[in-house]
Amino acid sequence: MNLLKIKQQKKAMPLRFDIITLFPELFEPFLKRLPLRKAIEKELIEINLWDLKKYAIDKRGTVDDKPYGGGAGMILMIEPIYKALEAISDKDIVIALSPSGERYNQQMARELSKGSQVTLICGRYEGMDERVMENLTTKVVSIGDYVLSGGEIPAMAIMESITRLLPGVLEKEEASIDESFSEPDIKEYPQYTRPEDFKGMKVPDVLLSGNHKEIEEWRKNKRERTH
Ligand code: ADE
Repeated sequence: MNLLKIKQQKKAMPLRFDIITLFPELFEPFLKRLPLRKAIEKELIEINLWDLKKYAIDKRGTVDDKPYGGGAGMILMIEPIYKALEAISDKDIVIALSPSGERYNQQMARELSKGSQVTLICGRYEGMDERVMENLTTKVVSIGDYVLSGGEIPAMAIMESITRLLPGVLEKEEASIDESFSEPDIKEYPQYTRPEDFKGMKVPDVLLSGNHKEIEEWRKNKRERTH
């Protein structure tokens, strides 16, 4: 009973990730390490893994088929993906992962970190039926101009980049590193730690000088010249 009528602090809802994948087990070790583990423990994020095989069109577990018009490889069918999406309630953003999607960047990570839910559909094999991208998603996203065998690694990259931005996940100093990437053209400066000299490879003198003004100047200069 709340005799003093003290207002209960309303807890912020965790950001929910729903991942549709043929290989949910690939995510398990990833979720057990920082920063994901900490964010899960602090209830800043919630992860649901949806095994696409459970939404197969038959008892044999069929989720893919040959492409109409011929060609190599197998294509993920729309029906299992549709059924998996139907099982996920309160969807906000639905992203299909594909090398032909919009290029992912820090700006997109920041936008997604402000939302309440992100669905990530991991493709496999030679691709997905185009009707998934056209009708069932809010965005098609690529993590770079190279082809991977599936969307699982891109999904992990996206989840980690979003999670790092949630207040309470990173230590203050680490968070300031991410901040520098918020400016599209500014890169991080080079960093060194012990020893000062490793097999003749030396740490720049200025970093050992203790002159903070000069160090700051050197870092600024290096940042601008690394891209
Ligand atoms: N699936 C395969 N390659 C990919 C990429 N580069 N980005 C996103 N999804 C992918």
